[in-house]
Amino acid sequence: MIGLIPAAGLGTRLAELTKDTPKELLPVGGKPIIEHVLDQFKEAGVSKIFVILGAGKSAIMEHLGNGSKFGLEIGYLFQEEKNGLAKAIYTGKEFIQEDFAVVLGDNLLFPKPLLKDVVAEHANGSDVTLVGHEVDDPTRFGVIESIEGKVTGLEEKPAEPKTKNAIVGMYVFKPSIFDAIERTEPGAKGEYQITDSIKLMLNEGKSIRVVKHEGKWYDIGTKESYTAANTELEAKNG
Ligand code: G1P
Repeated sequence: MIGLIPAAGLGTRLAELTKDTPKELLPVGGKPIIEHVLDQFKEAGVSKIFVILGAGKSAIMEHLGNGSKFGLEIGYLFQEEKNGLAKAIYTGKEFIQEDFAVVLGDNLLFPKPLLKDVVAEHANGSDVTLVGHEVDDPTRFGVIESIEGKVTGLEEKPAEPKTKNAIVGMYVFKPSIFDAIERTEPGAKGEYQITDSIKLMLNEGKSIRVVKHEGKWYDIGTKESYTAANTELEAKNG
């Protein structure tokens, strides 16, 4: 299995914190966010990883290098246009012919890394395996409807969510997702949403499963979430 870490976003909601440092390199509990993401892959036995960068993100490549200092093999892909997560993932198409795992470069899960379990669940034959987490305000996220782990519906940032089960930035895909991305129409702001690509597969009868995450989830897009994640890990380290 190959790993993909989308890290092309600009991190504008973190304002001055990301003026000189990409958000993925901001320290949480004494080490850059993206190194926590690398730990997840290591624990899941995924050692070949592509990091997807965009404009202004070369510091990530300088920091991670070829991955050897982390015991990993890291390569880089580039998303030229800011046109959505589906297009970011699509940059991997010509390099990936096997099932692959995606963890967004700004998503942290505590206390358990979980990716290992998601990879194991996926091996039971799903086309896509998602992670769901109950949140108070699901309107900021992709939202999942499911019955006993089988996804029956999903929607990206709905104004009126049908459930509180948000899509965590962790996915395992069969390579057939690339074909679904090619057939995906752009959503709000002209961005291609991976949620819409997965929905296409669901409507075509493919098996989409969801693993529930019960611990803490930080999607580090705002100063509040950054501070909360940092406080949590400092406490754990201290
Ligand atoms: C992306 C996905 C969304 C998911 C979220 C998790 O949104 O499109 O479905 O819930 O990541 O972090 P973004 O945070 O890029 O707006």
